[in-house]
Amino acid sequence: MSEQNHELKVYAPPAALAAGAHVSGMAAYLKLAAEAEADYEGYWGRLAREFVSWKKPFTKVLDESNAPFFKWFEDGTLNVSYNCLDRNVERGLGDKTAIIFEADDGAVTKVSYAELLARTCRLANGLRSLGVKKGDRVVIYMSMGIEGVVAMQACARIGATHSVVFGGFSAQSLRDRIEDAGAVLVITADEQARGGKALPLKSIVDEALALGGCDSIRNVIVYQRTGGKVALNAPRDLWLHELTYDRPTTCEPEWVSAEHPLFLLYTSGSTGKPKGVQHSTGGYLLHAALTTKWTFDLKDDDVFWCTADIGWVTGHTYITYGPLACGGTEIVFEGVPTYPDAARFWKTIEKHKVTIFYTAPTAIRSLIKAAETNPATHPKHSDLSSLRILGSVGEPINPAAWEWYHANVGGGRCPIVDTWWQTETGGHMITPLPGATPLVPGSCTLPFPGITAAIVDELGEDVPNGQGGILVVKKPWPSMIRTIYGDPERFKKSYYPPELKGYYLAGDGASRDAERGYFTITGRIDDVLNVSGHRMGTMEIESALVAHTDLVAEAAVVGRPDDTTGEAICAFVVLKRSRPTGEEAKAIAKELRDWVAKEIGPIAKPKDIRFGDNLPKTRSGKIMRRLLRQVAKGEAVTQDISTLENPAILEQLAQTN
Ligand code: WTA
Repeated sequence: MSEQNHELKVYAPPAALAAGAHVSGMAAYLKLAAEAEADYEGYWGRLAREFVSWKKPFTKVLDESNAPFFKWFEDGTLNVSYNCLDRNVERGLGDKTAIIFEADDGAVTKVSYAELLARTCRLANGLRSLGVKKGDRVVIYMSMGIEGVVAMQACARIGATHSVVFGGFSAQSLRDRIEDAGAVLVITADEQARGGKALPLKSIVDEALALGGCDSIRNVIVYQRTGGKVALNAPRDLWLHELTYDRPTTCEPEWVSAEHPLFLLYTSGSTGKPKGVQHSTGGYLLHAALTTKWTFDLKDDDVFWCTADIGWVTGHTYITYGPLACGGTEIVFEGVPTYPDAARFWKTIEKHKVTIFYTAPTAIRSLIKAAETNPATHPKHSDLSSLRILGSVGEPINPAAWEWYHANVGGGRCPIVDTWWQTETGGHMITPLPGATPLVPGSCTLPFPGITAAIVDELGEDVPNGQGGILVVKKPWPSMIRTIYGDPERFKKSYYPPELKGYYLAGDGASRDAERGYFTITGRIDDVLNVSGHRMGTMEIESALVAHTDLVAEAAVVGRPDDTTGEAICAFVVLKRSRPTGEEAKAIAKELRDWVAKEIGPIAKPKDIRFGDNLPKTRSGKIMRRLLRQVAKGEAVTQDISTLENPAILEQLAQTN
């Protein structure tokens, strides 16, 4: 996929789509942006009244008195599950399909809004019977499925704050999150079905709890997914079906303040410890619903499919909350894109007549490769004519992959919304609107109306278009991170450094083009990697490596560009014994990879592990990471290395195992 000779094209919104869109044409976009600029609180207040049903209306939109701990709609009360479920049933959508569940093996289960509400109420009642109450934290460690969505909605219903942990994380990572959140209960499944295999979940929960530090946990609820054999330790562990089967199908929602924490979601930062990003109820729900409707132009008869996992923020906002708050019909997919073969996505779109498809660039790039090696999996063999809008999320999409996606999946007629946002932002921040924004491949185009994204220098001064800089958001917005759970100081330090004039620091670099002011994201400017759209801290992986105290003396981790996964993890390791070579080096590299998988999860496994007698350091002992990045890329080292104690180690570190 060469990016060379790539002609920059501009794609105008298709006329018919633009004409019927919720935000129709650039003039409509500009009008909304102008409304927000003229009266910021008036704009968000208007939308909060339109998109969210309040039990008690708010009287104040934004409270900035304790910046950067901003509060939105604070004296209003509401319930998220009421907004996503009851409200739709009350509007006459009770029989409408809310979720089409496509299981790993292709089995399909459809759930209506009325059924989803009943299931949510049953579990909510079950949780209450176990003493779970407003403000308690509940960890959800499940695979993709209806029950995962129900578990999240049930927590929201009773005001419990959920923290979903991606099912690919290890026992150690799960334990750390349970402890940090002080969770009272875990909801899990016996196993998860992925790619034709049954993978353990409950036994990992057992392992996590046995590691210690999880005394706050009173119960573990187990959803029976595969029927695989698992141990139930009474009275702590309960089957979900036994807990819920005779519970009432109605359940009075807990009406909470708009600022009540709806969820924590742990994500990687530039230090070793993942941070629990805390989100609110009212502001979060507003942006989830609003962006689902405008960015995807969601209509009543759409079939929306976001391929993310509920373990990531994309699954929270664009599976569990946004589409349901809008009364939409959505696909929840359990499997993997390559099972039974790499045509799975395309066949599933055809099967369910999906109209809006939202996925990650990594998936697209790997499916392009798959179609090259096995032409039978090319999307042209599936009828994708139902599609009208495509989306991309999680990492920059390179123009070649964009063009392929546009031509081969979208048949040249579907706009691609390249949505830039983060766990911390709650929802889309910079994105095209499909019926308004002319598209330029590789650019996420313009801020969502009301979002004050900008590019500044190290002192917070605006950088002119055409130049690169630091991506910030100047004003607070409703769905922003409220704090890092248990560590408000770290929240301030990470996102509101004093030199940036009170702007939110996103951690990404970006530029705007001179002609249109369109944004292009150039990648993280901190020690965070983006591998297949998953955020990983380099320090987190380094800590995991040096935790292997028998073997590892020192480790440095950097990212290097990768054609498929965007970035790949490259680890430079100094062992406590002499530097291994040949087969031995391969064997130790494998041992370390497996070790990292056990410490963090398979997604954190380094692709490259290289051994040296030492690491390149400055005189003051700092590891020269920039130099390591060049070595990882296989580039000639251009930096001054005269301060290096032993330049010969660069040759050692250039060798892959
Ligand atoms: C990156 C995922 C370029 C970015 C929603 C950000 C993107 C990080 C895009 C957040 C995009 C996300 N173009 N880069 N459209 N979307 N990113 O928290 O580096 O898992 O800071 O949230 O992903 O990752 P997170």
